Amino acid sequence: MNDPNGLLFHQGTWHLFFQYHPHGMTWGPMHWGHATSQDLMYWQEQEIALAPDALGMIFSGSAVIDVNNTSGLGQPGQTPWVAIFTHHDGEAEKAGRIDREHQSLAYSLDEGRTWQKYAGNPVLPNPGLKDLRDPKVFWHAATARWVMSLAAGDRIAFYASPNLKNWTKLSEFGHGLGAHGGVWECPDLIPLMLEGQQHWALLVSLNPGGPNGGSATQYFVGNFDGTHFTPYDKHTRWLDHGPDNYAGVTWHNTAPRTVFIGWMSNWLYGKDLPTSPWRSAMTLPRELSLQRVGEQLHLSTRPAQEVVQRLENQARTVTSMTSDQQLPADALRETDGRFAIELNAPSLQNFTLTLSNEAGDALHIGYDTAGNSYWIDRTEAGLSNFNTEFAARHTAPRISTAPETQVSLFFDRSTLELFADRGLTSMTSLHFPSQPWSKLRIKAARAMHEGTLALCLFQP
Ligand code: FRU
Repeated sequence: MNDPNGLLFHQGTWHLFFQYHPHGMTWGPMHWGHATSQDLMYWQEQEIALAPDALGMIFSGSAVIDVNNTSGLGQPGQTPWVAIFTHHDGEAEKAGRIDREHQSLAYSLDEGRTWQKYAGNPVLPNPGLKDLRDPKVFWHAATARWVMSLAAGDRIAFYASPNLKNWTKLSEFGHGLGAHGGVWECPDLIPLMLEGQQHWALLVSLNPGGPNGGSATQYFVGNFDGTHFTPYDKHTRWLDHGPDNYAGVTWHNTAPRTVFIGWMSNWLYGKDLPTSPWRSAMTLPRELSLQRVGEQLHLSTRPAQEVVQRLENQARTVTSMTSDQQLPADALRETDGRFAIELNAPSLQNFTLTLSNEAGDALHIGYDTAGNSYWIDRTEAGLSNFNTEFAARHTAPRISTAPETQVSLFFDRSTLELFADRGLTSMTSLHFPSQPWSKLRIKAARAMHEGTLALCLFQP
């Protein structure tokens, strides 16, 4: 699987559709898989929602609950769920045709269990662009119409529609702005409140050109007036500095919350990862919010409250930090690789936290005062010979200027998700130890000693 698609929340159930190749372990003819959850923690896989057809494969897109039946896809009184996705025509591509990506609809009249393609597809034919995909649609209340963000090569195009079927182009954004190391994909335009004022964040994934190589997601903060998106400044900002968080978007129908999930991989090596018979996972679901740091607005990403609450109910060992310390980590052995570590310190200084095992693998995580950056070094963390790009040390600038820090690390066998400073810096990073981590050690500069280190074991 790859990108999350059609994220939709309805009456306590979280729906996650996703790019899915059901017949192989590498990317292939794309379908939309479907999974549901009541708690954002445990997921149940459902029937495949959308399969390729005469118009092509089913690429990424979004889904909305059409409460007023604006689309007319339901009978009077029915509430259709409408998926808006990209049809990617592989045959057109082979024939050398450039207009291979079109935007199409599918709808469900039974709350997402079964889907029908709309007979009038595509609803937004390609005007002659090589890359035109990943429609993300929301209801823009101020202008009472649907607004779509669509990746169009090196920019994002915005469209509007009264009924999800007829689309009019509004504007374009991004040519010459932000990072352009690769093609733009998977946009998401999100309203966010801060200090009583509404702002807009525009997420844009790009591949390659990420800050630590390969795929990554950048974002812009600015204003959307119903037609144009205007960023407040020209800084390039990254949603997650780790190598393994791509194509992430947010759920429909969760206001006032904004909940995000990303594909936990990277196109640099995603198809080579040493897992079987599965390949790829999603990140933890995350809450997005805006935070002011000095004059600038930044996105903060934190694990969703459902995940945090569950972990808070688990067994926990808290110790005060010393300069070189081996945590009572016997318990680590019992976790089957699932645990969280939380570091709290009144004064952030150099530290290195190392997880290791009897096989001699070691994963290092830390903060470097000189570079003012958090880092993760997976060069010794186990298997990496499946792809030369994998073994590396990755860094993330610290955004917060506060002296104190809190760093949370979530591990799930082969995954690490780091959240620092209330989510202002985050890093997602995969690793493949040949045995589960069994030892934990931290070396910290003196000024960190008043802090604490908590180990939280996760038992499902
Ligand atoms: C991003 C992406 C999308 C596309 C999908 C195809 O990872 O390339 O732009 O719709 O994957 O699977």
